[in-house]
Amino acid sequence: MAPIYSRIIATGSALPERVVSNADLEKIVDTSDEWIRTRTGIRQRHIAADGQTTGDLAFLAAQRALEAAGVKAAELDLIVLGTTTPDIIFPSTACLVQARLGANGCAAFDVNAACSGFMYALGIADKFVKSGQSKKVLVIGAETLTRMIDWNERETCVLFGDGAGAVVLEASSEPGIHATCLHADGGYKELLWNPVGVSTGFKDEPNHGVRIRMAGREVFKVAVKTLDALVDETLQAAGMHESDIDWLIPHQANLRIIEATAKRLAMPMERVIVTVDQHANTSSGSVPLALDYAVRSGKVQRGQNLLLEAFGGGFTWASALLRF
Ligand code: UT7
Repeated sequence: MAPIYSRIIATGSALPERVVSNADLEKIVDTSDEWIRTRTGIRQRHIAADGQTTGDLAFLAAQRALEAAGVKAAELDLIVLGTTTPDIIFPSTACLVQARLGANGCAAFDVNAACSGFMYALGIADKFVKSGQSKKVLVIGAETLTRMIDWNERETCVLFGDGAGAVVLEASSEPGIHATCLHADGGYKELLWNPVGVSTGFKDEPNHGVRIRMAGREVFKVAVKTLDALVDETLQAAGMHESDIDWLIPHQANLRIIEATAKRLAMPMERVIVTVDQHANTSSGSVPLALDYAVRSGKVQRGQNLLLEAFGGGFTWASALLRF
């Protein structure tokens, strides 16, 4: 029997309207546009409006992807949504989006892998398609990470933004996703986390203690090293070489991390999609937002090989090498 591949047939994304520049942040914390730009590459971020949820952004991104694919919501047999900032504890945000799209009946669930959420969701969806279980799948990465930011803490508040991206996957006899690699090491949990939750009890701290804590420098070091190994592993799993990759579409946390990965792949920055300047770190939203930008701007063309990767809290890290 011929192998079944999953192919990305369309992409979509959504960003909140409100844009906050580095200069705006200079007014609320002791920071500077110069520090933020040189340390991270970030120039601005989009921030969700009051009442605007992860599910709202996910729904818009999904609608745009489905429209571009020419696929009706009722045709979907699976929705996988990567997020760390679900609208409510349950039902899952995937279920909330499913109902709004009118895809009722198909399987729908969330994946929490912090910034690697979309890459995990894509890896899982790929397995569903390859096994013959699903034919048309909606994969979403969506976050409102700024909801758990302490706006007095300059170490973290300048880094994050809100947004969502989505892709429609279809079963195909043509490749397709060649390889996905998913990893985690919970031993690093305290370097990047938000230690508040249902089962541990919501702590009586300001803002319920719901805020991101990150040891930035340590995360940076592990991220660069881990992503180096991840891209090697992914090339090997796909049976490809650095020179086969047309575009690197990395997680958008820090331009210096992106440049380090590009260097490892011997790729000039002209072949790397960079949106961190515009979006900041949107966690699970980051890779699908960058992918949608790359597709809609005409940079990425059909038939090209794309390497997608992400690294985040957990730690988690994951990748996909695919023919677009
Ligand atoms: O998406 C999940 C994965 N997350 C990441 O990949 C993030 C990884 N980490 C990073 O991107 C970087 O470590 C940061 C951008 C978070 C920080 O950059 P850094 O070059 O590692 O700076 P640092 O933490 O070593 O801090 C350098 C200095 C410190 O001052 P002193 O101790 O040298 O006097 C900080 O207090 O910069 C100071 N600083 C700031 N100054 C102005 C920290 N935040 C700010 C700020 N504005 N916003």
